[in-house]
Amino acid sequence: MLNLSNISAGYTKENMILKGINLTVNDNEVVALVGQNGSGKSTLAKSVMNLVPYINGEIFFNEENITKKEAAIISPKGIGFFMQGGRIFPNLTVEENLIFASSDLNKKDYSERLETIKTYFELFNNGRMNLQASYLSGGEQHQLALATVLMQKPKFLMLDEPSAGLSPANVKSLYNALYKIKENEVKSILIIEQNVNAAIEFSNRVVLLQEGKIVKEELSKNLNSPEKIDEFFFGKIN
Ligand SMILES: Nc1ncnc2c1ncn2[C@@H]1O[C@H](COP(=O)(O)OP(=O)(O)OP(=O)(O)O)[C@@H](O)[C@H]1O
Ligand SMILES: [Mg+2]
Repeated sequence: MLNLSNISAGYTKENMILKGINLTVNDNEVVALVGQNGSGKSTLAKSVMNLVPYINGEIFFNEENITKKEAAIISPKGIGFFMQGGRIFPNLTVEENLIFASSDLNKKDYSERLETIKTYFELFNNGRMNLQASYLSGGEQHQLALATVLMQKPKFLMLDEPSAGLSPANVKSLYNALYKIKENEVKSILIIEQNVNAAIEFSNRVVLLQEGKIVKEELSKNLNSPEKIDEFFFGKIN
């Protein structure tokens, strides 16, 4: 589905943050990308969307070379990107945010999409559609940001810390939605997640990034005890 081949990327020519990344997310696979703050996780996701100024190497989506194509060209190919923090337009209402995200859908497709998305998120069922988005709580803003990504019916999702900063109850309800989305429509996902247990449980494979390099990976089902998880994160690098 998604394939990064020898990707180096950075914000200045002299200081490349990613250093030779090789990573594949297969069809029907959920890969969790984990690593310390500043290790380059967001830079990796942004590189796929060509949102990093310097990129070397090649990126393929369904065998098509999408390296350095504009984000506006890449998104319609079926990549949905939830950016860290969740991007919404705070001055627009909830509904305007959804409409803006679906500007290329006709009325019927928009309504159908909205009905599906209502089954994932409580936000859209409690009379908030006409509320200005800036008045939403943090958890609700994440729901809205994720919903705008889903309006396009992506085939592949990149989620950069969708549950960061949310209270435990909100994390739970966001993951409930993510599990439904994975079950119902988007089977291939790259998720960046600080919550190691949530990442392991949600994914098929965990990849550890350290200082811009992939230093380890393991099938999630093998990380089935605190000792193994500890060893994966803090044990020696192969
Ligand atoms: N727009 C930018 N301009 C310059 N440097 C940047 C920019 N964005 C990120 N960096 C630098 O790139 C490095 C990697 O940042 P990145 O955001 O990819 O890390 P991360 O693994 O996502 O961290 P976190 O867990 O805190 O989100 C950091 O040293 C950061 O300061
Ligand atoms: Mg980040």
